[in-house]
Amino acid sequence: MVPLEEAVRRALQHTRGAYAIVVLCSDQPDRIVAVRQISPLVIGLGEGETLLASDIPALLSYTRDVLIIEDGEMAVITARGATVQRLDGAAVAKEPMRITWDAEMAEKGGYPHFMLKEIHEQPRALQETMMGRLDSPGAPELDGVSYTSEFVRGLRKLWITACGTAYHAGLVGRWVIEHWAQIPVEPELASELRYRHPLIDPNAMAVAISQSGETADTLAAAREARKRGARLAAITNVVGSTLSREADDVLYVRAGPEIAVASSKAYITMLVALQMLALDLGLRRGTMATARAAQIISALKALPGKAQEVLLREGEVESLAGRLADRGHMFFIGRGLDYAVAQEGSLKLKEISYLHSEALAAGELKHGTLALVTPGVPVFALVTQRHVYEKTLSNIQEVKARGGLVIAVAYDSDTEITKHAEVVLRIPDTDDDLAPVLSIIPLQLFAYYVARERGNDIDQPRNLAKSVTVE
Ligand code: M6R
Repeated sequence: MVPLEEAVRRALQHTRGAYAIVVLCSDQPDRIVAVRQISPLVIGLGEGETLLASDIPALLSYTRDVLIIEDGEMAVITARGATVQRLDGAAVAKEPMRITWDAEMAEKGGYPHFMLKEIHEQPRALQETMMGRLDSPGAPELDGVSYTSEFVRGLRKLWITACGTAYHAGLVGRWVIEHWAQIPVEPELASELRYRHPLIDPNAMAVAISQSGETADTLAAAREARKRGARLAAITNVVGSTLSREADDVLYVRAGPEIAVASSKAYITMLVALQMLALDLGLRRGTMATARAAQIISALKALPGKAQEVLLREGEVESLAGRLADRGHMFFIGRGLDYAVAQEGSLKLKEISYLHSEALAAGELKHGTLALVTPGVPVFALVTQRHVYEKTLSNIQEVKARGGLVIAVAYDSDTEITKHAEVVLRIPDTDDDLAPVLSIIPLQLFAYYVARERGNDIDQPRNLAKSVTVE
């Protein structure tokens, strides 16, 4: 009889594409063979048991000792444990990796859903993201990032690539990098970038953003950028993920395990990671004055406390969600960074409430979509960007003139807005460039409470997966 490993090896000569497969054979019941190519595969080494999964969080309630299987490797699991070999049969010596996340962190901790727990963990997650990185008043110290100042000064362009919520974080990243470091930035959805002919060259850096570090399209886009000579920086949450292992520089967001399919704490920690990166690039290029950097650092450090203040206002969002949960369509508008947050607020609502919503650059409304604004249609208007405040107010007027119900997300100090919006969701004042970290929170809570009102499966919405490891 052909040993199972050999049979799998021969079968794989006929395969192509991305996969992680696990093979069992009734004639050889003492072993399981698993192989990966692009898709993730992780082995958990438990007490008297060995486990296989596609990501580390799935293993956390069983064990914290894991072996990460790389592309083209085969794991053989028997009662004695796991061994790893390459597809040509050569043994691979692998040290188990110890995951230091607390297993409790992957449980609900008294909240009805992981999503609500993760929204409430955001102040702490923000602290973790910044911990040890903003201690010196003049410049961030980004562990895992090893580019030189000379390289940064020679940069001609940055590409940001990601999917879904991570892409929306990238849109915020574009703004701050262009503003603070004066480098042109092109954000592109990973599923588009990989099939384009992007003009990426060695004078560019690609920043790939992914909570899981395993999203198939993001990995492919990152590889494409690297193939074209760009240095690859990764912003990710999962230590040891494929993206983190392939990147030249890795900035971990340290959000802790995110279980709910709808991303919340990973998003806002990505924002802060990008803000720290922008600060670092700006200082190295000399486009950011040290006094301004010190101001931003101090505003960043105040964010966890301010995020906590937003969470204390949860009740207002909950009652608004109760009022609006039966509406058919909603819109989110904003300009600049507010538009980037509008896109994330809209995605959050769609994916867990199953309501239709759309985000628009506020100035675009009158170019078509305004036709859909009829009496009572909810329109969320974000108004944190002071340089375009008056412009957004005039867009709010366009909505009001059609009878739309305007819900503003505004700073505490903004007294003008109450004259224009029926409902105002407040956030503490901050530097406008940092506002997305706070303004997204009421929108996350709104999506959560609408979904709850509608009786949906919040943590595992229909048709969606936490890690999209297929193309
Ligand atoms: O793990 P990643 O950050 O690469 O995942 C990317 C998207 O699949 C993810 O952000 C998705 O959009 C979320 N479900 C949104 O909440």
